[in-house]
Amino acid sequence: MAAKLQLQPWTLWAFLLFLALFSHESNLQCKNGVEATKRVLLYPQSPKVSSIVSNKYRTAYHFQPPKNWINDPNGPMYYNGIYHQFYQYNPNGSLWGNIVWGHSVSTDLINWIRLEPAIERTTPSDINGCWTGSATILTGDKPAIIYTGADTEKRQVQNIVFPNNLSDPYLREWIKSDNNPLIEPVGAGLNSNQFRDPTTGWIGPDGLWRIAVGAELNGYSAALLYKSEDFQHWTRVDHPLYSSNASTMWECPDFFAVLPGKNNGLDLSAAIPNGAKHVLKMSLDYCDKYMIGVYDLKSDTFAPDTVLDDRRLWLRIDYGNYYASKSFFDSRKGRRIIWGWTNETDSSSDDVAKGWAGIHAIPRTIWLDSDSKQLLQWPVEEIESLRRKQVSHQGMELKKGSLFEIKEIDTLQANVEIDFEPSDIDSADPFDPSWLLDPEKHCREADASVHGGVGPFGLVVLASDNMEEHTDVHFRVYKSQQKYMILMCSDLRRSSLRPELYTPAYGGFFEFDLEKEKKISLRTLIDRSAVESFGGGGRVCIMARVYPVALVDGGTRMYAFNNGTSTVRVPQLKAWSMRRARVNVQKG
Ligand code: FRU
Repeated sequence: MAAKLQLQPWTLWAFLLFLALFSHESNLQCKNGVEATKRVLLYPQSPKVSSIVSNKYRTAYHFQPPKNWINDPNGPMYYNGIYHQFYQYNPNGSLWGNIVWGHSVSTDLINWIRLEPAIERTTPSDINGCWTGSATILTGDKPAIIYTGADTEKRQVQNIVFPNNLSDPYLREWIKSDNNPLIEPVGAGLNSNQFRDPTTGWIGPDGLWRIAVGAELNGYSAALLYKSEDFQHWTRVDHPLYSSNASTMWECPDFFAVLPGKNNGLDLSAAIPNGAKHVLKMSLDYCDKYMIGVYDLKSDTFAPDTVLDDRRLWLRIDYGNYYASKSFFDSRKGRRIIWGWTNETDSSSDDVAKGWAGIHAIPRTIWLDSDSKQLLQWPVEEIESLRRKQVSHQGMELKKGSLFEIKEIDTLQANVEIDFEPSDIDSADPFDPSWLLDPEKHCREADASVHGGVGPFGLVVLASDNMEEHTDVHFRVYKSQQKYMILMCSDLRRSSLRPELYTPAYGGFFEFDLEKEKKISLRTLIDRSAVESFGGGGRVCIMARVYPVALVDGGTRMYAFNNGTSTVRVPQLKAWSMRRARVNVQKG
């Protein structure tokens, strides 16, 4: 599976080495991922690893099984009072392979009970892997899951399973249909090795079900559309839901409806209110990107509001280490929730020694901004149940060069929320739109030590006593034509003294009416090796993995800082220690 090879740390390291040796400019930006893969596969030597294998890097409240490899979240759903989370799981080890569907259940999205795998490799149509798929609650309140199987010939086909016993609250057992495979990779131009990850189904006014499947069609990427009367017999519609020649394959498409400015979610199978927009999310180039547009039910096509030929400019769900996300409508609280996968960025040999690899990001409520230009995300409110000791500071001023230590909470497991109010926004430097092509480059060049007019200001986390190790999450404010453009960086380059680790400077821009809003908010969830940040009320989200030596050897510190020329007020700073959640420790 090329996708998995792309994400192995050694390939990233080899890529870095390649860039260092053969190019003048290091550019790990999304778009170059595909090219990078082609190159690194020619240079598959692993680096020399100075290994630190410690359970202290294991997260305390992010989703992960007790051991082994996980990747994509699969088929999340809420059914009869229970949240179900399935996931790509290797029952035999901590590298990708032998993939089955792990299964866990929860009543609060935070504490999870581990069940036996729900879908295993038992039939000719999934013997080489039970890959990603989605759950749909069918008419009559019956769940079904359609997933991709790698068949005896390693072709990708789509299969279905149903719960064996609807009165089992955990839906432990899933039965494969005799009709499997439901859909085979047939038809001109369809690559049978690039045909996977069906979406949740939705029903149209004509009573027909639809699903979309990620595919490579005639060398282009496509979300192929299928229709069915009974959810078992599917016909391919003569045109895709959407396709693009800007890339060759989309993994894990996700398709959903949203209402501008409203954070209540929509069920795609229910009547969609006027004014709603649709979102098509796709996974490519190590990133989850999306388009906002209009879905015309009559022609069964999705038309993005803006078509950008250069996919570096496509919007992103998260600007860090976050992939293969999947959303679902939570009928319990009337919200849409998105889950994503975050892989380890230490070495695969460390993963083997640790015996585990991969986590899921905190589930996020996702909705559309009132101007319909971008999605907003926020950790589900249930995460707040883990907060314990709180510190808070009001009315602080951070002058140029200030470093304010946030003390008395657990710096390894924390939730920090800071509002930054720049005092002199007129001193913001001008924005250059070409930076949008490569925000990571901008974060590398303008790191936390480089003074700007307004910013950088932000948070330093997981810092060693002498600051030799630290991870910075910070903002810079730029003046664009009408509004302000804010750059948010999560700079990992000094996050660890271990030299061989993949430590990029992640970054993303968002447009912001700073004159009106006055404050830019930052929320960061620190969970040992995970640093998950939400900037500007969830306009830019950045998930990162870090492996500081100080985390294992001693303590770490945390600071708020301002390194911009003008003073920044901090009307509010709140931080909490976070309790350990009961994530898959109990077997159900
Ligand atoms: C995304 C992905 C999917 C595939 C699954 C296999 O990470 O490559 O396209 O179904 O992982 O584990």
